[in-house]
Amino acid sequence: MCGIVGYIGNRQADELIIKGLERLEYRGYDSSGIAILNGALKVHKKQGKVAALRAIVNEHDTTGTLGIGHTRWATHGEPNDINAHPHLGGRGRLALVHNGIIENYGVLKNALMAEGHTFESDTDTEVLVHLIEEIQREGNLSLEEAVRLALNRVEGAYAIAVIDRENPDILVGARKASPLVVGIGEDEFFIGSDASPFLDHTKKVVYLDDNQIASISRTKGLKIKNTANETQPPFIQELDLQIEALEKDGYEHFMLKEIHEQPQTIVDAMRGRISSKDGLVYLRGIEEFANRFVRANRIIIVACGTSYHSGLIGEYLIEDLARIPVEVEYASEFRYRNPILNEGDIVIALSQSGETADTLAALELAKQKGAMIYGIVNSVGSSIARLTDAGSYIHCGPEIGVASTKAFTGQVTVLTILALSLAQKLSTISNTELQQYLRELELIPEKVREVLEENDHIRYIAQEIKNHDNALYLGRGYNFPVALEGALKLKEISYVHAEGYPAAEMKHGPIALIDENMPVIVMATNPSAYEKIVSNVQEVVARKGRVIAIVNQGEKAISKIADHIIEIPATDEPFSPLLSVIPLQLLSYHIAVELGRNVDQPRNLAKSVTVE
Ligand code: M6R
Repeated sequence: MCGIVGYIGNRQADELIIKGLERLEYRGYDSSGIAILNGALKVHKKQGKVAALRAIVNEHDTTGTLGIGHTRWATHGEPNDINAHPHLGGRGRLALVHNGIIENYGVLKNALMAEGHTFESDTDTEVLVHLIEEIQREGNLSLEEAVRLALNRVEGAYAIAVIDRENPDILVGARKASPLVVGIGEDEFFIGSDASPFLDHTKKVVYLDDNQIASISRTKGLKIKNTANETQPPFIQELDLQIEALEKDGYEHFMLKEIHEQPQTIVDAMRGRISSKDGLVYLRGIEEFANRFVRANRIIIVACGTSYHSGLIGEYLIEDLARIPVEVEYASEFRYRNPILNEGDIVIALSQSGETADTLAALELAKQKGAMIYGIVNSVGSSIARLTDAGSYIHCGPEIGVASTKAFTGQVTVLTILALSLAQKLSTISNTELQQYLRELELIPEKVREVLEENDHIRYIAQEIKNHDNALYLGRGYNFPVALEGALKLKEISYVHAEGYPAAEMKHGPIALIDENMPVIVMATNPSAYEKIVSNVQEVVARKGRVIAIVNQGEKAISKIADHIIEIPATDEPFSPLLSVIPLQLLSYHIAVELGRNVDQPRNLAKSVTVE
């Protein structure tokens, strides 16, 4: 939930760290801080964005070639200067930054207080650094060994980076259930919550595994041990990621850039996986476990937030096309409700970040219970990607805007291919139908481009409805999960209350909310429920609700009665979410901009939720 950066080498660390924190700000942005070692530990911390920290650092001497930094999303203790990281040990010898939660910090804190420790902050992190420093002092130990012994007493999740005032040659990082990656440069090393802070300096990385401790020395290089004190060889990978992917590329916000990238990211998610010419539908993960999939009793999809909504579309797709029963569960509910699972079940986790704590824990539970686990993930090398038996990346590139957009369409694209691949294997659709579907699927990126041309029109609608306090999103069939996703997008970036409903459910309660102050956004693109949706729209109009309808080009009935229509190209019903979600993304984006919200970093949120 927070972002960590560390540097050891020959260059000035401060600018490298601050720039790295700016790249990681999507992970948390309520306060930030830096510690540079140069004889003494120079620590600066500030509530607010990294820009506030930068201003302070500019006024002070922070020269030094070893340092750590942190950008925070508060868990323990309100966001303020004191609770910001780095935190210092009791004698000011160690400085530490942390992402995660130390669950037994209360017990540890009481024990340390009984020995005379006092604490400045309300954080669990300060307890951890006191503990490490105490263990180091008592045993006169190296930093690495003190970290190892301390972590053996800690329960919870952590990625940490620590430096030691008495040893300017060492940077130590460790992880358990929160990501940490080491970047290997020429005579220099980096640490990051992901590789973005150092991508312009090196693409050679080592993703730490759970319970690993990286000890990085200028002279001796990188050594990895686990918390059981076993030496482990680093697995060095070369990243295939361009620095441009981390820039706004002329767009005002990352979210807008990412919405506009979708024609390309959908192509990337399809690349090498489908070809209508050859009748090819191929997902390597599925091929490797084809027997398990075709014999599956049930597929259970676990996910959170936007990924949960793609999961619901996955349910419609797999049941509709491949006729395998599917259940979709919020990962946080699944893991705590003693679910029934057996070996014939396949559990699919959907996650952009691959680090969402609840999704990870749900998968671990499924694995323990003997189910096969499959991941559909964006972040290469992430915890979920490494835990699963098999999986498929969605290949969208880094998604930086907190509101997920291109990852949603990437997930839905991969789920569509997965459903078609299973349908082919199980012969639940004919070859002719498959060919037809593949031909249409190949047209989707171009159709998404066409929808994006509605941008100015959608901005105009946003200006018209921006001052309403509520909104209702309605859809049927494949467009019901899209309605949920549209409502989530509006809530999270514009702070306008919104609800998504299956359109037919409206009359069972929500209809009471409808009056002239209620914008109702209706997805009316699917032929199978078209007449019914027309009736639902009439019910809204009769109660003076303001209808914004997403319809197929040339549609007549709803266009006559709606306040606004957004026309999009028609497609096969199973692919409709890939088109109907685009206007909803743009609508919430423009409403948020009109309301002056921080689109890429909405209040209280963080991009990846690595706490439960
Ligand atoms: O990284 P994940 O896909 O696992 O994240 C799940 C949710 O936290 C995420 O989709 C969240 O709901 C987004 N902010 C929605 O835009």
